[in-house]
Amino acid sequence: MLTHTDSKLADIDRLISQQEAIFVKRQPKSAEMAARARGVLAGGVTSNWQITEPQPVWLSHGAGSKVYDVDGNEYVDLHGGYGAALAGHAHPAIVRAVREQVTRGTHFAQPTADAIIVAAELARRFGLPQWRFANSGTEATMDAVHLMRSFTGRDLIIKIEGGYHGHHDSVQVSVMPDVAEAGPAGHPAQVPSSSGIPAAITGLTLVASFNQLGSVERLLDEHKDQVAGMIVEPIMMNAGIIGPEPGFLSGLRDLLHSHGALLTFDEVKTGLTVGPGGVTAKEGVLPDLVCLAKSVGGGVSVAAIGGTEELMRHVADGGYEMVGTFNGNPLAMAAARAMLTEVATEEAYLRIERLRARAEAGITKAIGDNGLTAHVVTAGAKGCIVFAAQPVRDYRGFLATDDSYSNAHWLFQHNGGVFLPPWGKIEQWLISVQHDEPDIDRLIGNFAAFASAIHS
Ligand SMILES: Cc1ncc(COP(=O)(O)O)c(C=O)c1O
Repeated sequence: MLTHTDSKLADIDRLISQQEAIFVKRQPKSAEMAARARGVLAGGVTSNWQITEPQPVWLSHGAGSKVYDVDGNEYVDLHGGYGAALAGHAHPAIVRAVREQVTRGTHFAQPTADAIIVAAELARRFGLPQWRFANSGTEATMDAVHLMRSFTGRDLIIKIEGGYHGHHDSVQVSVMPDVAEAGPAGHPAQVPSSSGIPAAITGLTLVASFNQLGSVERLLDEHKDQVAGMIVEPIMMNAGIIGPEPGFLSGLRDLLHSHGALLTFDEVKTGLTVGPGGVTAKEGVLPDLVCLAKSVGGGVSVAAIGGTEELMRHVADGGYEMVGTFNGNPLAMAAARAMLTEVATEEAYLRIERLRARAEAGITKAIGDNGLTAHVVTAGAKGCIVFAAQPVRDYRGFLATDDSYSNAHWLFQHNGGVFLPPWGKIEQWLISVQHDEPDIDRLIGNFAAFASAIHS
């Protein structure tokens, strides 16, 4: 079996250079756009995560399961706008809902009927009775952290090392720390993940390890009666895909509650993508708060936060001011209503499950055929390839997996007409309700070509 020896890594570097040359050659107009953009857009892009190597890809449009770049290249879109395109592109139900609402006004800052339908449907799926809306995952998790603090009257929160919850101060801690600064594995250090965040705020966020209840218990014991709550991605999805071991999520809830602290599931990524009611319904563990965003709006910017009667009464009574000009925006609510009632249906999940299984089987076979040290991890519509022999159970395990193979694979897929999310081993593919078997076969075919290029 091949392992990631030095000579193999040199081969991978060569492969990356070859594929980057093909990539750039296919996209002269993207290069032109990037050059023009640099004059007026910081870094030539609209978010730092769009600054990808060898150059940002400028898109012209999306349709169904495909996106098209400004050079006219077609891609099966498994990037899904960083996991926000479960509906695919220009889904007729979303187009209809948005078009109808646009003609009736796009913003009032007063509630509209769709908000009740969306909240009721989320309550049914996720089992939490009361909901509010926001515009991005960052806003939803920021409200969750504030609400946990406000309700308990405590300042500290716990997050997981390697977990990402958006770009507000309290959660920009130990998102992607280097091993040198990360501290002991069972008791991770609090490492700031961004500049511009005062140390005093970083100091309020304690860091635990995924799948290790002991690391959470230790923090709760060390900071008795000071911890407001914990925020966690119930399946980690900013470090490939790392699932919870049996008993971890229910153990977290029991542990936190026994210390008078609360539990928030950040289902911004997992939300509708792993199943109709996210990990919450799948694992049958009800937290105090759930945060949703990304795919909930069918491609329109919307976030939701669901909570228990008790917590949301605190909001209703003005104990915590959950506010925002665009919260419950009618356009976003119309899109979310269509997403929940017409797009993310039981039938759509069955179809996605068939495609998930097809992708997993096809790629696993190519791994075996070529003797690669790798395995496939999937969760509903999401999936990734981990270039390691053993399953990963936490951030430290993720750090130890190979990134250069992931980068080479991304380029191979891209040049072969499949758009996976950039950033190597961090991200996952997203199968939308509009993908079909030929789309998945293109993914498998490109992977097989990549595997055989390494093998040879
Ligand atoms: C788990 C998770 N939470 C929160 C966020 C922040 O969402 P947004 O980028 O919409 O602010 C992200 C973004 O990738 C995420 O993956």
